[in-house]
Amino acid sequence: MKKKKKVYCCNGCGFEAVQWLGKCPQCGLWNTFEELDGGEQKRLNVRKRTAHAVGKKDIKPLNEVVIPEKNRLSLGNEELNRIIGGGVPFEATVLLAGEPGIGKSTLLLQMCATVAKEYARKVVYVSAEESLQQIKIRSERLGISGDNVYVVAESELDVITTYIHEAEPILVIVDSVQAVHEATIPSPAGTLSQVRECASQLCRLAKERGFALFLIGHVTKDGTLAGPKSLEHLVDTVINFEGDRYQQLRLIRTIKNRYGATGDVGIFEMTEKGLREVTNPSSIFLPTSDELTPGRVTAAILEGRRPFLIEIQALTNKTPFSNPLRRAVGVEQNQISLLLAVLERSLKMTFVGCDVFVKVVGGLKLQDASCDLPLCLAIISSFTGIAIPAGSVVVGEVGLGGEIRKVHNIETRIKEAARLGFCTILIPKNNTTHSIKGIGVKEVSHITEVYNLFFKESEAQCT
Ligand code: TYD
Ligand code: MG
Repeated sequence: MKKKKKVYCCNGCGFEAVQWLGKCPQCGLWNTFEELDGGEQKRLNVRKRTAHAVGKKDIKPLNEVVIPEKNRLSLGNEELNRIIGGGVPFEATVLLAGEPGIGKSTLLLQMCATVAKEYARKVVYVSAEESLQQIKIRSERLGISGDNVYVVAESELDVITTYIHEAEPILVIVDSVQAVHEATIPSPAGTLSQVRECASQLCRLAKERGFALFLIGHVTKDGTLAGPKSLEHLVDTVINFEGDRYQQLRLIRTIKNRYGATGDVGIFEMTEKGLREVTNPSSIFLPTSDELTPGRVTAAILEGRRPFLIEIQALTNKTPFSNPLRRAVGVEQNQISLLLAVLERSLKMTFVGCDVFVKVVGGLKLQDASCDLPLCLAIISSFTGIAIPAGSVVVGEVGLGGEIRKVHNIETRIKEAARLGFCTILIPKNNTTHSIKGIGVKEVSHITEVYNLFFKESEAQCT
């Protein structure tokens, strides 16, 4: 008889191998391989056959498919509604991923309360991690009344599905999917086979019963979903909670969206009474005083499709060490080294005897290349001791030769600067734009041109 092949699978990323491995070659985690049992294989085969049979009955021409009116559930929160594409469709499954302690449970509990109140229908919050008392304490802190919000502290999948059948809710939250357990699978909760099975059963239930489902998933330090990275293909939408849990600011970014655009960002602030939407983000990141001090520059960045203005600060000091320090908060340290090299070559400045520190105010992590020029100006401004004139905003990517390169969506950025009362904006020369009322636009093509504009008169010296 032919010997059956064994398959081993990594719990972290789903990588499959024909033999047990100590370290996963794909995600690098140790001791995560487990043998896929025959039961799982059989279940997959049965599901494939059933899906095939059902598919035959439902086949129809695309132009006969009707989208029902009012098919989206408003989440009572403008930011969340917007990033999901105008509310969440009934039957949709959303995975909310984020580090432990960032505010996932807080956000979804607040959301439950608003939806239950607005629609006067039942909402079920399944907590597989916390007790009912803990949820109650949180809800009191958030000032939630809790009418129509049904809570259950349960981690057994079958029991959860029974409760959902009985309650007939319009919205279900499962906090977290890694803590839910399917009794017939021998591996413990949180392993790949458990997470995959539990999530797919819950998704199927949401489609059958027509409720919106939010699954909470914890991510590991390196940013991957612990265990259920493979969940991303199962769910309709993946939103990611970002930010530093020790700071107030939180961003929610759409990673995958079957019902709208991706890359959009919702901005929240963690307060004593839970998460609050931030409708005017520039108000958080801009300085409260107009005092002119060297080393401060205002940049216009885009997060998703949203423009906002932020302050970038730099400090250069004579170093007592033989190896000068380069430290950055909110920017990649490599980016600072690269920009310093460009400044040294293009402007003949030397930072050899200087420590350089750079900080993005407000705890934001910059990924937008348009911040190169503001970063350079902040460093030069601190180095020369000359402040950038008040009311100026700077935008532009800097190439290795010191050339200022084009950035995308320049008009949106200029409009935001004009809206907030700034009088001048520096933009790359080949960024074509119409003139915008209320703000002067200066076009620059090289870093030396910018240097001549702001710093020419003084002699550069390390202060
Ligand atoms: P939590 O929602 O439990 O995080 P997660 O579910 O992602 O693990 O809350 C995280 C933190 O938020 C917690 O350390 C305390 C803080 N917090 C507030 O600052 N204000 C509040 O109103 C609440 C409920 C929590
Ligand atoms: Mg939680």
